Amino acid sequence: MNLYQQIALNLRPIKLKRFLGSLYYSRLRDRVERRFSPPQPQDDLVAPGNLLTSEPVNNGAKLKFEQAELEISFLTPDFVRIDWKPGTLPVAYAIAGDDWEDVQTSFENNSDKVIISSSNLKVKIASDGSLEFANPDGKIIRQELPPQRQNEAWKHQGQLYSEEHIYGLGERAASLNLRAQPERSYKMWHYDAGGIYTSETDPLYLCIPVYLGLHQQGSYLIFYENSYLGYFTFNEEATAYFEGGALRYYFTIGEPPQLLTRYAQLTGYPVLPPRWAFGYHQSRWGYETEAKVREVVAGFETHNLPVSAIHLDIDCKDQFRSFTIDPDRFPQLSDFNRELAAKNVKLIAIVNPGVKKDDNNQLYREGIAQDVFCKLPDGTILHAPVWPGMCAFPDFTNPLARHWWSRQYEYLLDLGVSGFWHDMNEPGVFTLWGDATLPTPTQHFLEGRGGTHLEAHNLYGLMQAKAGYEALREYCPNQRPFIVSRSGWAGLQCYAWTWTGDVETSWSGLRLTVPTVLGMSLSGIPYAGPDIGGFKGNPTPELYLRWFQMAAFLPFFRTHSANNVKPRTPWGYGEEILEITRKYLHLRYRLIPYFYTLAWEATEKGYPPVRPLFWHHSSDERLWDVEDEFFVGDALLVCPIVEEGVRDRQVILPAGDYYNFWDDTVFAGNSTIKLEAPWEIIPLLVKAGSILPMEAEEKLILHLYSPVGEETSFANLYSDAGDGYKEWRLDNFEMRRYADILELVWEQTGDYPFGYQSLQIYVHGLNVEGAWIDEKEVKIEGDFWECQPFEKIKFKVN
Ligand code: GLC
Repeated sequence: MNLYQQIALNLRPIKLKRFLGSLYYSRLRDRVERRFSPPQPQDDLVAPGNLLTSEPVNNGAKLKFEQAELEISFLTPDFVRIDWKPGTLPVAYAIAGDDWEDVQTSFENNSDKVIISSSNLKVKIASDGSLEFANPDGKIIRQELPPQRQNEAWKHQGQLYSEEHIYGLGERAASLNLRAQPERSYKMWHYDAGGIYTSETDPLYLCIPVYLGLHQQGSYLIFYENSYLGYFTFNEEATAYFEGGALRYYFTIGEPPQLLTRYAQLTGYPVLPPRWAFGYHQSRWGYETEAKVREVVAGFETHNLPVSAIHLDIDCKDQFRSFTIDPDRFPQLSDFNRELAAKNVKLIAIVNPGVKKDDNNQLYREGIAQDVFCKLPDGTILHAPVWPGMCAFPDFTNPLARHWWSRQYEYLLDLGVSGFWHDMNEPGVFTLWGDATLPTPTQHFLEGRGGTHLEAHNLYGLMQAKAGYEALREYCPNQRPFIVSRSGWAGLQCYAWTWTGDVETSWSGLRLTVPTVLGMSLSGIPYAGPDIGGFKGNPTPELYLRWFQMAAFLPFFRTHSANNVKPRTPWGYGEEILEITRKYLHLRYRLIPYFYTLAWEATEKGYPPVRPLFWHHSSDERLWDVEDEFFVGDALLVCPIVEEGVRDRQVILPAGDYYNFWDDTVFAGNSTIKLEAPWEIIPLLVKAGSILPMEAEEKLILHLYSPVGEETSFANLYSDAGDGYKEWRLDNFEMRRYADILELVWEQTGDYPFGYQSLQIYVHGLNVEGAWIDEKEVKIEGDFWECQPFEKIKFKVN
């Protein structure tokens, strides 16, 4: 791309009045880069050389090579940390768990190999520094070449099996299997796509150096605790390249669910969000007055459409400044918030990290006085243009800066704002060419150890989220924080949700959403969703509808769009679309107990609610590339329509039996079937053996999808007050099918009282001849049983 094209491209989001600031900054950044980090000659790659010494230590071993040192530390019998040095060790921003128990390991020193084994994993280190990881059956799960060092950088390669598939690396606009495009290089450097991205764009806003490898011998997860600028490729080898830091990584083997549990144990289990967050969110860049927001909320009311949150974009702010509200356009925000609260609608306000450079701006003056802004190596504060004009950037790697930033949320919380939307926190700035972020020599505190933006860039959004989360915990101790953050890193799940940014308004943009969200799930980010309809553009009614239907099954269910497109609400596309979107909105609200239970499960096990087809079927190769279907929990299999004009589709089924959600037809799994998909239908299946909890009108509705054979299955239902940190309850169900009987046994734990007036039980796929609740015969009412909580319900079926 020539300079002219680059300028033209970058002009899109910038608007002319920002042109000068962007021009000034682009030149400044180049000057800074030239002055403080001139290009270094790239020395040759250096291998560790020969093994000199090795010794067992607690939980592992230490080895010395001619040019490198290696430490192996088992955290659990199937989870090991590998440290190659030299190189600075990371500040442990991503690490939550460090209370690992001792692991019994054995140490063997053969003539050409050192072998360190636990009960579940063998690590063999050859005398040239190549590594092999084997499971207890002796199957080789991964083989690594000796790592290589190039100046401050590390290059690390694993040999891939020919059939091996790779998933993860955070948020990617790519195939679910990252190896499907072996020529592609995936960059680790959060990037503001500047208003639009497509399937060619890389990186995106939220990169995480974690991936899952899947082949016929087994599956594993590897997480590099290294936040430096980096690159990954997956062809014959998996190659990771980091521009600095020690080569520290964590490796674990097992089935995908277990891998995600280990990862959560290390980087933190996702926190439980407030329950309302699983409702529908309406957003638009362009709700610039209280009156406009009121009109939108009224639209939802008059059309009988539930809505849980409205998001306010930068146009609610005073001259786009952080933590302000324009008093002319939102004159009575706290009254307005009370009005919205009465309708159960929350207001979410955007917060950008850039602080406007202006001596009349109190936040800027405070930041200067507290010395919390990022500086260049010569000690001057770095300013770069974002929405408000030239801005300074808090150094969130400084605890003082985080604390100062945390205090700023109080004002908006006092006005009744319920949650925050962290945007532009890659951090993204406006440029005419080159990298649209801070210069790499920018200095960071890094908890006192010090370092540059090369290391801190990928941590910026994560640490802002931490500051925001801590503010909300402090100021609203009885409410669970809700933050949605565009950027982040490993550990974001402990503080915030995310969304898939400025995705293109196109069928291809819609198609991308499934692999992008699944890739995040497999990178430990459980709560994500797209701008329904894409960011910048006007979707056709059909595209909007199909996008809406799909997003109704994703954790973050939000419509959002740019300011220069037509308003995007369910009633903007005619009566037919309104009716269908209403049906999906209501279905989503009925399903909230299910989503909420999945959120609880995430806090316990680290499982993401949205799962790939191979989640429980990792050896079934047919499922490894499926990127237009996804599971929500274990019960729901969602098969969105992602092509224009399509009215039916093929569905690949994993093992098991599946009910068609819409008509209860049963399909045997391990097959490919075809399902109808007129406009009002998104193909949707329920796994046989599931108990799908729903709610409506103060009633808990249990849908029993009976196993096809004589089987027993289990399900949970988590509930509490929906917010806060008080009592909870867990309802545990056991469903047994034998002979002509279907039985449901119910037990509870926890102190939260049963939160419904009554419950309804639906039995799917079977004819019921009689029913007994706690041994007492009960009559059917319609096609369900209405009752109070019980210990056992028994159905005679045929
Ligand atoms: C960025 C965000 C987008 C937002 C816009 C204006 O492009 O990704 O969601 O509407 O900035 O704040």
